[in-house]
Amino acid sequence: MVDANVLIAKFKQRFGNEPQIYCAPGRVNLIGDHTDYNEGFVLPAAIDFSCYAAISARPHDHLMLFSENLGETIAVSLGKPIEPASKWTDYPLGVFLQLQAVGFALGGANLCISSEVPIGAGLSSSAALEVSAAYALLGAFGHRADPLQIAKLCQKAENDFVGAKCGIMDQFIACRGLAEHALLLDCRSLQFEAIRIPDSLRIVICNTMVEHKLVAEQNEYNTRRAECEEATRLLAQHIPHARALRDLSLSDLENHRSLLPSLLYKRCRHVVTENQRVEQMAGALQRNDLKQMRKLMAESHHSLRDDYEVSCRELDLLVALAEQQRGVYGARMTGAGFGGCTVNLVEETHVKEFHRRVAEQYLAKTGHAPEIYVCKAVGGAARVS
Ligand code: GLA
Repeated sequence: MVDANVLIAKFKQRFGNEPQIYCAPGRVNLIGDHTDYNEGFVLPAAIDFSCYAAISARPHDHLMLFSENLGETIAVSLGKPIEPASKWTDYPLGVFLQLQAVGFALGGANLCISSEVPIGAGLSSSAALEVSAAYALLGAFGHRADPLQIAKLCQKAENDFVGAKCGIMDQFIACRGLAEHALLLDCRSLQFEAIRIPDSLRIVICNTMVEHKLVAEQNEYNTRRAECEEATRLLAQHIPHARALRDLSLSDLENHRSLLPSLLYKRCRHVVTENQRVEQMAGALQRNDLKQMRKLMAESHHSLRDDYEVSCRELDLLVALAEQQRGVYGARMTGAGFGGCTVNLVEETHVKEFHRRVAEQYLAKTGHAPEIYVCKAVGGAARVS
């Protein structure tokens, strides 16, 4: 875990002055994956792993970017055009350019990043990095912005500069997370409702430890998004109200099935049914209807595995192992997929046993020890005093 005092001491040693520090959390999505870029519904919670950004302005026209995680410093001249370099620095640099593009006056800075969010594990380490960097850059130059504007600018940085066509979910929850709650977010209107996580349940995240092949994964992700856009285009010719897959009911889809190649039909069926499940899940959490939660999360996993085809062997195994344990009220893959993590709702009294048994059984079957995190839902990005 990052200790802010240690971060300050190291920063002073490296750059010779006192930083301001900001942090932004990673996230887990309880249900509603691959729905955000279809203008649908998601139910994420910010988790107690954060990315810290320590910053001070510097007199010269350079950004000095330092990663504590990688032990790497990159100097970027602001006098020349800034291009993506397919590495971690693309995230803060993309954010820097977006902030400038909408008129925030920024200058040279020392920016030191230290993150606790497991990297490339599907817990939004990138959004936490973008959002913490945005808060830091704004803070260092005396600006303030609305969290919603920050979330949108960070998403745009990732879409346009990094090249990942992500939706708004991760940046939104990194900015607006709320302790003890998940947010039921409408990704079209960006209206949200806070849904309390029942006190008896813990959010347990299991990491497959499957290596993320970032480029391949990004291609798969962008392909899914393009498939959804193509399906919308085909359907909109016959269903005028269909601006996005969000606008389809299951009967709209069934009635127009013949318009779609079977692959696109499956992609649509996932999105349409997943949107329904998100709203049902919010209700189930509010009523503490454990049986329903478990059912919805299982259906979500099957839909992501079979219709959307973004799961993998290790994710399926972790879900199957989780479902065999006592006190489990939901298990599914979470986030983009292709490796990464599962999310599980586990009764507090069974967490220890769950942890031990799932770890043992996964290791026995795959030869890899999973990492298992028992998480709390926390608030969004903030300055660290
Ligand atoms: C990634 C993206 C999000 C969302 C999820 C899948 O985390 O960044 O916008 O699409 O995948 O739900």
